[in-house]
Amino acid sequence: MSSRILGGLIAIAAFAAASWALPQTVSAEPYVQGPKTCQECHRTEYELWEETKHAKSFRTVHKMDEAKEIAVAVGGKKSMKKNATCTICHYTSVQKKAGGKGKPKAGPSCESCHGASSDWLDIHNDYGGANIKRDDETAEHKAERQQAAVDAGMIWSFMRYDIAKNCVSCHGLARDELDAGDLAKMLDAGHPLNPDFELVAYSQGSVRHRFYPPDVTTNGEMSAAELAETFIQGQAAKLVSATGAMSKSDNSKYQAVQQQRMDDASAALSAVGVPEAAALVADPTDANALALVAAIAGKDLSGDVASLLPAPASYK
Ligand code: HEC
Ligand code: HEC
Ligand code: HEC
Ligand code: HEC
Repeated sequence: MSSRILGGLIAIAAFAAASWALPQTVSAEPYVQGPKTCQECHRTEYELWEETKHAKSFRTVHKMDEAKEIAVAVGGKKSMKKNATCTICHYTSVQKKAGGKGKPKAGPSCESCHGASSDWLDIHNDYGGANIKRDDETAEHKAERQQAAVDAGMIWSFMRYDIAKNCVSCHGLARDELDAGDLAKMLDAGHPLNPDFELVAYSQGSVRHRFYPPDVTTNGEMSAAELAETFIQGQAAKLVSATGAMSKSDNSKYQAVQQQRMDDASAALSAVGVPEAAALVADPTDANALALVAAIAGKDLSGDVASLLPAPASYK
């Protein structure tokens, strides 16, 4: 076991031992600061996001007749923006300070995929002291900064499985915060639940932003190997999400769609010729999914899954 992991375990054990003696304190949940926080430095990504359905739906979805019917069906506020069940997935609820109340200020945005930024933004922007510019950052500092940001909740673009988990939890109606009763009411009132969310088709169309290394000015396209890798990451996330969701609600429509998601993902993963894929299908856990993602990193598996990849014309 590495000393970093061991150190973490010791810290957790020490915390667990100490916490029974501590008075109940307000948990310091990281909070969302909103896409404008990122706009100043990530103008290109912001402008691209503004054209996506994620951004545009902020001005449209709550006005649909179905939206009001579904909101009324779950109880609570008729307006989607005020209904706590709808804001979980449809909005970026921006908070000004810890423990404050979030206000919906945008559709799903940067932090919906990259993690609530209150604890990581300062780390993100510190290259080793106030006077040190990005170009002068040492490799050691960059590695430490990346890890510190991860520990504080940032999901970097290279953490593809973690990003994919966010996508499939919203798109598969499988978010932890969602209550089984509300889920059944939403579905009965006609809320869409599409088993066909597939990561390549959904991430390489309108949502795609690949301007890196940082100073690159064109929005890159994935190579065949990267598309295959992304496809497999997406199937892994979908299988784990759907398996977890099965025990979330006994609504028959929900069960049928989650079963479909499981079957589709298992079939896709069965085409992947590494033993970690079969292990994940046999036992769909995050740990097994991460093992598969690590096993295929940088490999070209396009031969295994070429016939399963979506056609570029179908990208959303
Ligand atoms: C003060 C400027 C600044 C702000 C504000 C900022 N970023 Fe960044 N960000 C950068 C720079 C510069 C880089 C590239 C250098 C690096 O960190 O490796 C970067 C890198 C990233 C990356 C990783 C790219 C990669 O190579 O993996 C992500 C993701 C990201 N930022 C997301 C965000 C999000 C989301 C926000 C808002 C919550 C945000 N950033 C706010 C300057 C900023
Ligand atoms: C677990 C995440 C989640 C929750 C919670 C949620 N939605 Fe959705 N909703 C989605 C996703 C994802 C879509 C897009 C589905 C698709 O296109 O496949 C969607 C689509 C919709 C649509 C159709 C939009 C369109 O453009 O056609 C309406 C209307 C809607 N939701 C209303 C609601 C209401 C009202 C609530 C609260 C009672 C709610 N949703 C809660 C994730 C969620
Ligand atoms: C729907 C989820 C999603 C949203 C919303 C989103 N990102 Fe990303 N982001 C990703 C994914 C996935 C990648 C990895 C892209 C790749 O490598 O193909 C990424 C990559 C990045 C990168 C590194 C690549 C690049 O373009 O430089 C940065 C920086 C970044 N995102 C910032 C942002 C900012 C800022 C916003 C909001 C304006 C945002 N993202 C919104 C999912 C998202
Ligand atoms: C916080 C919840 C959430 C997350 C995370 C999320 N989405 Fe979405 N996404 C939605 C909702 C809600 C809609 C539907 C908006 C509407 O129709 O009004 C949507 C719509 C979309 C659409 C438009 C679909 C269409 O039929 O036009 C695409 C594409 C998409 N998402 C891709 C992604 C990808 C790729 C990821 C992850 C990298 C992702 N989303 C992560 C909630 C989310």
